[in-house]
Amino acid sequence: MAEAMVLFLRFCFQLIALPVYLLSLLGAWEPFCKKIFFPFFMEMLTAGYNKKTAEQKRELFRNLPEFANSSGELRLLEIGTGSGANFQFYPPGCQVICTDPNPNFHSSLSKSMAQNQHLQFKRVLVASAEDLSKVADSSLDVVVSTLVLCSVQSVEGVLKEVLRILKPGGAFYFLEHEAAAHSSWDYFWQQVYFPTWKLIFDGCCLTRDFRNDLERAKFSEVNLRHIRVPLHWTPIQSHIIGYAVK
Ligand SMILES: C[S@@+](CC[C@H](N)C(=O)[O-])C[C@H]1O[C@@H](n2cnc3c(N)ncnc32)[C@H](O)[C@@H]1O
Repeated sequence: MAEAMVLFLRFCFQLIALPVYLLSLLGAWEPFCKKIFFPFFMEMLTAGYNKKTAEQKRELFRNLPEFANSSGELRLLEIGTGSGANFQFYPPGCQVICTDPNPNFHSSLSKSMAQNQHLQFKRVLVASAEDLSKVADSSLDVVVSTLVLCSVQSVEGVLKEVLRILKPGGAFYFLEHEAAAHSSWDYFWQQVYFPTWKLIFDGCCLTRDFRNDLERAKFSEVNLRHIRVPLHWTPIQSHIIGYAVK
């Protein structure tokens, strides 16, 4: 019965979003989404999202300096940097490499860089997190991912790359929205919105579960917790937050 309701409501939302589906069929939506809509949407969302998660982000990134190398440098790479939502939470002097497969965040990213002069920006790479071949093995102290694993092609492939580029003892920090408890109404609505949300928001999957991926990857230590971010009336309230040590 619940499954039939999901399918029916999903169909209703697909009807409402019919123009987007038609544009996608014509091959026009994806380029528009990547070039204009999604970078603009993320720039709008970031201030509000950071306000709601400021306390959690501050707490998450508090121990970043503990992972600095013996010269006191903290070499950090962010996957799916987008418009640079996390820069304000990194400690002064932190050396940052930004990576994202979508180069169209350029203007909002440049703005964030200019506003965060306490950091040293080293490189901006156009690269997906599944293939960071331009980054040497064991060359980083920290890798960060926020709201990215929902959109990647292979979570397992990303975690393998993260482990490759981290130094032994380096840390992977994450804050990701995830599938709600399967018995909840939140999960019901996530299933309803899933295909339309994925199409509109550049491949963002609502029902991914990252705990198993993180625990299966070969980290020596995984610290995580599930939290709820009060993004009312959205299907992305359930989050996973923490860090894993190589
Ligand atoms: C929702 S935005 C989050 C941006 C930023 N991390 C933040 O917290 O605001 C998702 C980002 O992931 C990027 N992305 C999508 N697929 C990716 C992949 N395979 N590897 C790395 N980043 C990816 C998108 O281009 C986009 O910048």
